[in-house]
Amino acid sequence: MAKLNWGMIGGGQGSQIGPAHRLGALADGHFTLAAGALDHRPDVGRAYAQSLGVAPDRAYGDWTEMLAGERGRADRVDLVTVATPNATHFEITKAFLEAGFHVLCEKPMTVTVEEGEEIVRIAEKTGKICAVNYCYSAYPMVRQARAMVRAGDIGRVRLVVTNFSHGHHGDATDAENPRVRWRYDPAMAGVSGQFADCGIHALHMASFICDDEVEKLSADFASTISSRVLEDDAMVNFRLSRGTVGRLWTSSVAIGRQHGFDIQVFGETGGFRWASEQPNQLIYTPVGGRTQIIEKGEAGLYEEAKRLSRVAIAHPEGFPLAVANIYCDIADAIRGEARDGLPTAASGLRSMAAVHTAVASAKAGGAWMDARPPMFR
Ligand code: NAI
Repeated sequence: MAKLNWGMIGGGQGSQIGPAHRLGALADGHFTLAAGALDHRPDVGRAYAQSLGVAPDRAYGDWTEMLAGERGRADRVDLVTVATPNATHFEITKAFLEAGFHVLCEKPMTVTVEEGEEIVRIAEKTGKICAVNYCYSAYPMVRQARAMVRAGDIGRVRLVVTNFSHGHHGDATDAENPRVRWRYDPAMAGVSGQFADCGIHALHMASFICDDEVEKLSADFASTISSRVLEDDAMVNFRLSRGTVGRLWTSSVAIGRQHGFDIQVFGETGGFRWASEQPNQLIYTPVGGRTQIIEKGEAGLYEEAKRLSRVAIAHPEGFPLAVANIYCDIADAIRGEARDGLPTAASGLRSMAAVHTAVASAKAGGAWMDARPPMFR
């Protein structure tokens, strides 16, 4: 099968998410890194792209140069990844979709709900893939959990409880560190800090596994480090459209918790738990039965999990490989085989609507509010 050409914006040397995209996109041989505008400093970005094997004429200084350079080429990139800071996602994603490129955008997809709706409309109109990197949903055992819910293995889901709480911004003396500070600065991060940064992964995961959408929510936000304008801790109660009760805690001041992302799903005839720090195991308990460990790579998994299990049973499958699974799904979709689990612009928009609703709810003393984006009501 011919390799697809891939281009990247952001994710330069030393960035947090850049290496995961490169490992992910290149892991299975679907993509070649053909073009890039990798850094906010043009010369640094050009040099770094060339050091990664990009031809000099496709190592661009910024994304507008890349758009102009790529749109006229016969071998133009098939997919553009947007891995820049949040406030730039909208204009870059919009411009590339409108020019006919498929896009994988980092979360949060946009800063406002209106921008999110515009991206959904442009993706629909152009027929181009606009995926959002909710990579945790691409772990094989998360796909297994969703397939189990869909197959009725735990009955109707009553309750979903999820946390994405770490302690890495818990040191008040480090609050001005530039890598930490932007996440709580509205000009850089948007209306929400920790909820938009980590909570949206947990919220997306809850709706992904339950195969349902968030309908309404009530939020309590706190800035436990008082110099922070945006919240560093949030408790969000929510309801999915089929009545499932949802509870979500997200924090960046939970000192001692490391990655801190886990989810428990409780149905009428069973429940399970998955945690990002042990991604290869799904802990399952049927009602009245013993607790079992369902292991990635074992016999009898649903096809959705088997397809994305890359290494043999008992061998670790790490975070970049969850990102790799997003790229597998996109490669299949570009080649005309749509993949069910791929998070799209609609997921990105639902998250932004939830973030804005949570901010409004927290300001209104935790009032329950409709969390659906206007275009999906
Ligand atoms: P970072 O600050 O570590 O790196 C940002 C990179 O983008 C740098 O290389 C910078 O030079 C480059 N850049 C900035 N503006 C640019 C522009 N206009 N054009 C080209 N390059 C530009 O940021 P980090 O942590 O890598 O985050 C980037 C995005 O990825 C954010 O939206 C963040 O929310 C998301 N992210 C997603 C994760 C996930 O699990 N899906 C995990 C970590 C980050």
